[in-house]
Amino acid sequence: MKNEEIKTLLSKMTLEEKIGQLTQIRTSYYYNSNTSATGTISKLKFTKEQKWMIGTVLGKLDAKMMFEIQKEYLDNNRLGIPLLFMHDIIHGFKTIFPIPLALSCSWDEELIEKTARVAAREGSSSGYQATFSPMVDIVRDPRWGRVIESFGEDTLLNSIFGVAMVRGYQNGDLKDPDTLISCVKHFAAYGAAEGGRDYNTVDISECRLRNEYFPPYYEAIKAGAKSIMSSFNVLNGIPATANTWLLRKILREEWGYEGVVISDWGAVKELIPHGTAENSIDAAKLSLKAGIDIEMATTAYFEALPELCKDKSMEKLLDDAVERILLLKNECGLFEDPYRGISYEKEKQTLLCSDFRKVAREAASKSAVLLKNSDVLPLERSKNVILIGPYASNSSILGPWSLDGDLNDVITIEQGLINKNIRLEGVETTCFNEISKEKSEEIIEKAKRADVIVLALGEEEEKSGEAGCVSNITLPEAQIKLLRCMKKLNKPLIVLLINGRPLDLTNVIEEADAVLECWFPGTEGGNAIADILYGDYNPSGKLTMSFPRGVGQIPVYYNNLATGRPKELLKNEKRYKSQYLDVPNEPLFPFGYGLGYSKFKYDNLNISKKELSKKERISCSINVTNIGKYTGIETVQLYMRDKVADISRPVKQLIKYKQIIINPNETKTVEFTIDEKDLRYWNGENQYKSDEGLFEFTLGKDSSEGISFEVRLIS
Ligand code: BGC
Repeated sequence: MKNEEIKTLLSKMTLEEKIGQLTQIRTSYYYNSNTSATGTISKLKFTKEQKWMIGTVLGKLDAKMMFEIQKEYLDNNRLGIPLLFMHDIIHGFKTIFPIPLALSCSWDEELIEKTARVAAREGSSSGYQATFSPMVDIVRDPRWGRVIESFGEDTLLNSIFGVAMVRGYQNGDLKDPDTLISCVKHFAAYGAAEGGRDYNTVDISECRLRNEYFPPYYEAIKAGAKSIMSSFNVLNGIPATANTWLLRKILREEWGYEGVVISDWGAVKELIPHGTAENSIDAAKLSLKAGIDIEMATTAYFEALPELCKDKSMEKLLDDAVERILLLKNECGLFEDPYRGISYEKEKQTLLCSDFRKVAREAASKSAVLLKNSDVLPLERSKNVILIGPYASNSSILGPWSLDGDLNDVITIEQGLINKNIRLEGVETTCFNEISKEKSEEIIEKAKRADVIVLALGEEEEKSGEAGCVSNITLPEAQIKLLRCMKKLNKPLIVLLINGRPLDLTNVIEEADAVLECWFPGTEGGNAIADILYGDYNPSGKLTMSFPRGVGQIPVYYNNLATGRPKELLKNEKRYKSQYLDVPNEPLFPFGYGLGYSKFKYDNLNISKKELSKKERISCSINVTNIGKYTGIETVQLYMRDKVADISRPVKQLIKYKQIIINPNETKTVEFTIDEKDLRYWNGENQYKSDEGLFEFTLGKDSSEGISFEVRLIS
């Protein structure tokens, strides 16, 4: 359909049909008689007739169901406007990749794009047209369970990886039936919930929003994401769902966004408990005015808009929203082919095919972060191993938001070792929170016979993800006890961690000889972990979120603002400086940190010029030499500090990075160019600008160390 014809279609629609387009309900209302018009649907306050006017649905589907639902729907929809099927395809559909936080530790933009491409091919083959992904909320509080879904604490990485996912899903042409519409979320700053408690208040200055939290959303929509989801939280006093400044002024006026805005689940009616709406009528009015096009999972629009739209200005808002939704349906070709080429055969060939499994294995290998290694890894194949712990042979390693992943398809850690023909002395699966005395004794006896002890520890899946917030981020006591018991046996002791958030690992690090953070690694997790343990993959992951020394340090992140009393500068001052008296300021493991089996030496820094004028660019380079025995990937990071600015600026800010593969004894020169645009920020007076004067740059392997140099920006 030509876009101009959408207006004609709109002119034929009744008020009720228009409101239907703005309403999203669960797919199950169309296939499950328990949730049909006579069941749960009645709670939602819409009629049986209105069911055939609904614009979009979310939830479980496969190709056959999609075909049947769409067909029945079109038989009943007066104007033949197809339904749009949306779903949470977050880190893979059937082939599950590591959780997004893990993927970000690969620092591999192409890989991340590839995972989204696979997810789009799989999801679309089962009948979906849209996914609620990527989530690009900056996260600095590991108590918040949804950190699993973010790309970490850094603005640049969230921007780059968010854009990569948009590209992977949409692939530049939504008419192609192998693609999915990307929905960026959660606008805005959902990840800054106070106390790390889900759905909680967010209060952040406009400076912070614009310099740190907004850029990833902005970049994702500039990359073409056709929809965006508002967040649950209050932002600076006003819930995002009713926040006109956010959704109209920033998003539409400033950023020129023309796509669809969808509320989060039930968030329109949640304006009532938020205390900003008295009833559904208020809630609908505030949301439509603020710019919510699609109301997810509740029906305030159905209840209130017939009356509210007697006001012409409200009717105009309704028409604009409907037009955007129809344009979206047109964009992905639904008017030409409401089934978008699905077939049972295509679905069968696509889901979990061997090529996709290979991507999952690569992704899981590249996402793991080696936190400690006292020369015990990689392991020798001849040594016999005992594998112990709650994740030893547990297939629940897909992680939260893997709604369509099947545990039967998972390669467990045990299976990964078996696939490599490792001599297993024993495999002991324990509970997460309790290990009986008898079980402990049994394990000790068996462990005595092994050459190497591998402990597969971690957090249960329910401990993270949405509403998976905790106040204690250590491993359960029973697992620490097990670790201490094993330590007494004086054998190489390797800890594998399966979890969804940065943990307080102070106890673990002291006891273990090697610690590999595997996160929730997805379908191919066991194979990838075995690849790393035996040196078939040289670990290259680098943290994208700092690991605190304890909850008391939270929030701890690398790019904090400067204080007037920095600890580093006041070495002779004992007390009156910005510090904790009981722990260091620095996290246990900083942003950007990660070990491998090789070592890389940085030297020979070169800078083309020490002065940068606004019209030119300068280059800096450094030599990186692999002084170890294994070929490896190194991620060279370039940080910047604006030494004198209009507002306080971060003590460090990642502005560029490059990944290189280096063979043993090989030296590679890594070069970066810097221009004035790299130095800009929002200055509190509605200007994006740079400051003339001194800038400090640091080139290094993580955010805590490196080789620094200064450059002066001149006019
Ligand atoms: C989550 C969203 C998700 C939506 C639909 C909400 O609870 O916050 O991220 O896309 O549910 O499942």
